[in-house]
Amino acid sequence: MNADDLKKQAAARALELVQPGMRLGLGTGSTAKHFVDLLGVKVAAGFDVLCVSTSEATQAQAVSLGIPMSTLDETPELDLTVDGADEVDPQLRLIKGGGAALLREKIVAAASARMIVIADDGKLVQTLGRFPLPIEVVPFGLEATRRAVAAAVAASGGSGELTLRRKPDGTTLVTDGGHYILDAHLGTIEHPELLAQALNIVPGVVEHGLFIGLATGAILAGAGGLRLIGRIE
Ligand code: A5P
Repeated sequence: MNADDLKKQAAARALELVQPGMRLGLGTGSTAKHFVDLLGVKVAAGFDVLCVSTSEATQAQAVSLGIPMSTLDETPELDLTVDGADEVDPQLRLIKGGGAALLREKIVAAASARMIVIADDGKLVQTLGRFPLPIEVVPFGLEATRRAVAAAVAASGGSGELTLRRKPDGTTLVTDGGHYILDAHLGTIEHPELLAQALNIVPGVVEHGLFIGLATGAILAGAGGLRLIGRIE
């Protein structure tokens, strides 16, 4: 079974949690895409849900499948969000933002009573940080913000290169919110809470990809079957 099959298995298990009439947050990325596809099949068969997306890409996919969509302005409280992650640790702390959607992903997750992470089990790590931590910043003052971010990383006991994310054509990647992303290549993040707090107070940082205290459960698919962490309900 390849990684994509595993992602689909995790997505299918998460679909079992969806009850009629639920208000759902739809994640972004290749794993969440499977979940939205499967949900689309259910909706086409008459299932009733109302959804909020975490990116323009997911919005377009959901609309194309006929999934009823809302916004957090109209529907500010959600029952469940299902989203992927770049790394998950045993305490359900996450790195997200590999797909550049971290800002909306975090807002939607925070508006949800429950957040279930779906992933292949290669995303499970003992210590976060091998995946570069995405940090969303405003374009104004980029170099000053980069230095302040480096100082925040150092203050939390970390170190590593900060790279401005670019698209394959070499141009700077711009997020759905019109911001840039600095990827922090830290290797290991020994103190995720300290780093999150330090980044939260840097002017120019809009959001970062450390999701702490947001995920309530994780469904991780591997060759040996599904591994469940936290509350899966
Ligand atoms: C999007 O910004 C990310 O947070 C994704 O959820 C994350 O990168 C996981 O993506 P995949 O499911 O494609 O691995």
